[in-house]
Parts: sequence; C-alpha cells; structure tokens
Amino acid sequence: MITLALSKGRIFDETMPLLKAAGIEVLEDPEKSRKLILPTNHANVRVVLVRASDVPTYVQYGGADLGVTGLDTLIEHGGGVAAGVAATGLYQPLDLQIAKCRMSVAVRSGFDYETKVKQGARLKVATKYTTIARDFFATKGVHVDLVKLYGSMELAPLTGLADAIVDLVSTGNTLKANHLVEVERIMDISSRLVVNQAALKMKQADIRRIIDAFSAALPAYSSASK
Ligand code: PRP
Repeated sequence: MITLALSKGRIFDETMPLLKAAGIEVLEDPEKSRKLILPTNHANVRVVLVRASDVPTYVQYGGADLGVTGLDTLIEHGGGVAAGVAATGLYQPLDLQIAKCRMSVAVRSGFDYETKVKQGARLKVATKYTTIARDFFATKGVHVDLVKLYGSMELAPLTGLADAIVDLVSTGNTLKANHLVEVERIMDISSRLVVNQAALKMKQADIRRIIDAFSAALPAYSSASK
C-alpha cells in the first residue's frame, strides 16, 4: 500500500492533475465526504487528508509514504532553512511549482517600517511562521519580539498587538482589504513532494513511478532545475 498525505484545499486541488498524470484518480471528493482516507482507482494507493502543518510529520514518521507540503510548512517543521529540512530525513525530490505564493512582511499602511528598522527600533512581529520570521530578522540584524499566532494575522497590526506581520501573500487581496502593505518579500513559496526515506527504499518501484510521473507532468523549467 502506498499512502499519500495531502491537505484539503489548494494543495489537494492542484495535486489532482499531477496524480492523474501518474494514472491515479481519487475516488471521493474531500469537500463532500467526511472520510479522512480516500480510495483511488489503484487498490494499493490511498490518500490521507491531514492538516497542512501535519503533512511533514506524517511523512517523517511513516504515517504516510509521501506527501505534498508548502515550503513554509517544511521549513517550520524542520526548524529552519539551514539546519532543519535535512535533519527531518525527508527526501524532497521535486518542487511541484503548485500553490505558489510568497512569504512577506506587512505593516499597517502609514507605519514607517523603513525608518524604524534603520533606527534600530525593536519591532513586535506577529506570525504563525516564527522560524522563518526569526531567521529573516536575525539575518537583517533587526531586533524583534515575536508573537505567535495561529491565524488572522492581519488583525495584529490593526489592534496594536504587533507592528508587523510575517504571512503568506498570494493575490495581496487580504492585505489590501485590511489596509496593510507589503514592505519586504522574504521568500517565494511553492509546494514540495516529500518522501519517507525508508518507504523510498522498501517501496522503491511504486514510489519512483509516482515521482517520475509527477516530474514529467511539471512545466519544463521546474524539472530542468533539478
Ligand atoms: C493565507 C494567508 C493570508 C491569505 C493571503 O491564508 O494567511 O491570509 O492566504 O492570500 P491573498 O494574498 O490571496 O489574499 P490561507 O487562506 O492560506 O489560510 P490560513 O489563514 O489558515 O493560513
């Protein structure tokens, strides 16, 4: 049995065409079913639905053989870009170039971020992505107090909880609707295929077939860079 961990929403939707290219079709719609294990047209392939932030955990500890997860989630899970990702033992064969967005710093419109940073002021930063935020501001030499939140980060600068937020930006509509402006782009984000190392050895042929089919279905620029 091959188990693939996915999260509902954008990652699930954008992974479907890749699975199709591998000849795999999920037989139930997660938006209509309460099931957490979804069968596919292959008796030996199933999809498990987990919280986005739990995908690396499932794959690392073998609850799933492979999974699709955002680079943001992967970095937070591994404890940082430099140290962490390799330390989790997750094999990352492909940047799937899906669920693309960026990790950015945003502030209330009118807040003079540049001057504060130049003056060496201590910034209060609210975020769900504390590892990415800590690494980014440490590299810039900016002193920050991090406030960990689990959602609706846009509220923090509006209520005085923080000066800035570090969050994902896609269209920019959420920032705009809340009168926030993007002041720094930390990194580009996309989703990655992650594979359990032991599964890769023990179920090599099946997993390789999936990796190769995904890879062939990707735009030329992304597979060429591997
Ligand atoms: C993300 C992010 C922003 C929004 C940005 O939230 O936290 O709130 O998307 O998208 P936009 O630039 O297109 O408006 P998401 O919907 O992924 O849910 P989350 O709050 O659970 O992270």
